[in-house]
Amino acid sequence: MYKFLYSLLHYLAGGSVEQQEMKKQAADKAVQYIEDGMTIGLGTGSTVEFAIKKIGEMVKTGLHIEGVPTSLKTKRFATELQIPLTELDDRTEIDITIDGADEVDSNLNLIKGGGGALTREKIIAYHSKKVIIIVDETKIVKGLGCDCALPVEVTRFAWAATKKTLEKLGCTAELRKIMDEAFITDNQNYIIDCEFGKIADPETLEKDINNIPGVLENGLFIDLVDEVIVGSKQGMMTLERQNIVQ
Ligand code: 5RP
Repeated sequence: MYKFLYSLLHYLAGGSVEQQEMKKQAADKAVQYIEDGMTIGLGTGSTVEFAIKKIGEMVKTGLHIEGVPTSLKTKRFATELQIPLTELDDRTEIDITIDGADEVDSNLNLIKGGGGALTREKIIAYHSKKVIIIVDETKIVKGLGCDCALPVEVTRFAWAATKKTLEKLGCTAELRKIMDEAFITDNQNYIIDCEFGKIADPETLEKDINNIPGVLENGLFIDLVDEVIVGSKQGMMTLERQNIVQ
């Protein structure tokens, strides 16, 4: 419970000034991959907002791209910046997706969904030729689940039964609430935040959770990421999938 509240408050606040600087560093590097004519998946969260702002500036000075937003919040933000937008259904593939993460492990697997956009984020990432994750150094963990709860998007119908079934997988589960009201996703569903502690086998857990009827998607992103750009106090660092021996 406290872990989740802490993450949420931190999420809403966007982190310390130092953390903001690290996020911006990573975002500035990520947008360098963008080329004229590309379709760009636009992630959700305070880190990726730095990248979206930069893309807005690039569009103003003549870059031609189309963005595919992963949430209504990102859609509003990109629209304000006059970034041309399109839908995944109107494209066969997305060239590059830039998104944030709540936790990143040494295999470049992630926990995402602090902002509740995990289902759309995973769909967009899955259909992208290249997925770049931008984070500050606080998001790099030794094991997924150590510092944050795993968000799971579930149908509102029978959500309490789904929650009980999730708990049988070994977690403490909590319906996400904002000011005493259940948080509603862009897909009109609920989020159940599941505290597992260190997740020993993220690949299996991702599948086991998604096998539960009533679960739409969970925040474990396995083998979806090509590159993680980490803003840190020591400067920027890039972690690439091709360098990972599994
Ligand atoms: C939203 C997400 C975000 O990418 C994740 O929560 C990171 O957010 P931030 O960049 O604000 O720390 O998964 O669903």
